This record gives sequence, C-alpha cells and structure tokens, in this order.
Amino acid sequence: MMTGRSVVVGCGAYLPARVLTNHDLARMVDTSDEWIVERSGIRERRIAAEGELTSDLAVAAGQAALEKAGLSAGDIDLVLVATATPDRTFPATAARVQARLGILQGASFDLQAVCSGFVYAVGVADSMLRNGLARRALVIGAETFSRILDWTDRATCVLFGDGAGALVLEARPGDVGTGERGVVASYLRSDGRLEDLLYVDGGPSSTGKVGHLRMAGREVFRHAVTNISEAVETVLARSGYKIEDIAWFVPHQANQRILDATARRLGIPPEKVVTTVAVHGNTSAASVPLALSVAVEDGRIREGDLVLTEAMGGGFTWGANLIRW
Ligand code: UT7
Repeated sequence: MMTGRSVVVGCGAYLPARVLTNHDLARMVDTSDEWIVERSGIRERRIAAEGELTSDLAVAAGQAALEKAGLSAGDIDLVLVATATPDRTFPATAARVQARLGILQGASFDLQAVCSGFVYAVGVADSMLRNGLARRALVIGAETFSRILDWTDRATCVLFGDGAGALVLEARPGDVGTGERGVVASYLRSDGRLEDLLYVDGGPSSTGKVGHLRMAGREVFRHAVTNISEAVETVLARSGYKIEDIAWFVPHQANQRILDATARRLGIPPEKVVTTVAVHGNTSAASVPLALSVAVEDGRIREGDLVLTEAMGGGFTWGANLIRW
C-alpha cells in the first residue's frame, strides 16, 4: 500500500534558438503555410543547432526547473528522461544529464514511450517517490525529432520540432485524496498491435541505423481522439473528480485539430486549454512539460489548481495525469 504524495516544486523548459517557419518549409518541400496552419495549427518549430544534443536540451530544461524549485544538484536522487531521440543507443541520456547537472547520488534512466513519454514518466516517478525509492525526482521530456525526420516527406516533416521541459517532483507525507497538492492519479496504456501506424524505420537491432519517422497521419488522428478521451475519462474516474473540477487542460501538443476535437468531446471549454503547438509543433515527450512551463510562467497555472495532462503516441501509447499543482 503506497502512502504519501509527489508534489510539483519546480517547472522549466528550453527551446533551441533556431526557428523554422512554415514559409521556410515551403521552400524545402511541396507545402504551404496555409496547408500546415489549417491541418495542424502549427506556424513554426525549433530546430537544434548542429552538435546540440537531446542531453543539452534536457540539461537546460532541468537546470531551469531546479532554479524555479530553489534546489540544487545535491537535492535530486532520481533523473528520468522521457525521450525517443537519445544521444546514443546507450548509455541512457538521463545518465549524461545526471552527470552534467552534477547530481552524484540516486538513479537515472530513460523512459521510451514516444509522445506519451512524459505522462508515463510522471506516473513512474510518482509511484517511485511514494514507494520510497527516491525523495526528489527531476522528470524531463527532451527530444531532437529533427534528427529522425525524413526532410523530403511533406506529410511528416512539417509537424515536428525539438525542445525540452522538466518538472521537479518531491515526496511529501499526506494524502492527495484530502485535497492536498500532488499527483492525484495517472493512467498509462499501450496497444502494441498498432505499431505500423507510427514508427521509426530503423534501430540498433533491426537495421543498425537510426531510421526515419513514418506515420499514417489520418489513422493516428482517428485513434488519438478516442484514446485521449478514454485516458481522461479513466483518470478522472480513478480520482473521483469531474471534468468541471479541472482548472487547466494541458494536452500533448500534436495538432490543434486533435486538441479542439478532444476538448469538445470531453466538454472542456477552450479557455481552459493550454495550447502551444503553433510555436513549437509536435515535440513528442517534450510537449506537455513545455506547455506546462508556459502556463506556469504566464501565471495561468497556480498552486492548488487541478491540472490535467494527456498524451498519445507511437506504440501506440497513451495516458493522462491529474495533478493538484
Ligand atoms: O504525436 C503523435 C501523434 N501524431 C499525431 O497526432 C498526428 C495525427 N495526424 C494529423 O495530425 C493529421 O492527420 C495530419 C496533419 C498529419 C494530416 O492532416 P489530414 O487532414 O489527415 O490530411 P491527410 O493526411 O488526409 O492528407 C490530405 C492531403 C493529401 O493529398 P491527397 O491524397 O488528398 O491528394 C496529402 O498528400 O494533403 C496532402 N498533404 C500535404 N499537402 C500540403 C500531406 N502533407 C502535406 C503538406 N502540404 N505538408
């Protein structure tokens, strides 16, 4: 029986400097700003500089989250990096991040659930903290999807971008059921039968090469709305809250149309939905913490607010977290 709770004590993010606009893309493949905006809501995305790695993005986001939390390297005993674009096949990017941040205690590992990686990582870190396996976790979503895109495939290369976001979760005594701050509930799901709708056509054990992202966009879209709705309904049912109790809905930023369709289906008013997809595209595991960070920085998300996240991605994987901020 798990006791205690995991409280968010800091949140940070990092985006690479280089902006790639839809107009830039229209000079590279047969596409247009109108098509990309109408179908996805994306206007621009960030691209990591040459030599700038997933670990660099993760370290910057992690550092920002630690500063917001008023904590230093000695306070962290778990580093979890959700990524599908690690620096190397091994070791884990998380181990590099741990070393770069000067964290000399505790454990570190990567979590691979593609776009759902951050939602999974919050669920995993929360259960580890409540089980006493760690006291303070730095949970990071970091990606350099620009490195796995086929830049000649207009159906995919216009949708993704690079970035990182991070949370610090701290183990505290008490029970979230009584309205205290902390991760209230998580729901994690996957269905491996749907691999061929969204995957990378390479890997160490299959081709020996990194490969490129392949996606059947329309099919993924269809599953996304159904799966996200299921995740949200389940996490609410598990926690006993209703959709009206949610202060902020912070979805995976894949496509504005998916965001709008799921919010409508779930009955969440648009003013409660945090959307950042226009300015960074789909950054996979980084997208939820990037959006969280924006809404914390601009003062929308405040202590005590009930915040609902969700994500869906390759695997398929999907899930949601309900957090009393
Ligand atoms: O985070 C992981 C999850 N991933 C997602 O959530 C992505 C889910 N899917 C989507 O977001 C959308 O399906 C897309 C944005 C990928 C595509 O939108 P769509 O409305 O489903 O378009 P479509 O794939 O059905 O393509 C419509 C047309 C096609 O032409 P034809 O066959 O109708 O002549 C495509 O070839 O648009 C064409 N097209 C493009 N045209 C201009 C595809 N990509 C482009 C492009 N520019 N970049």
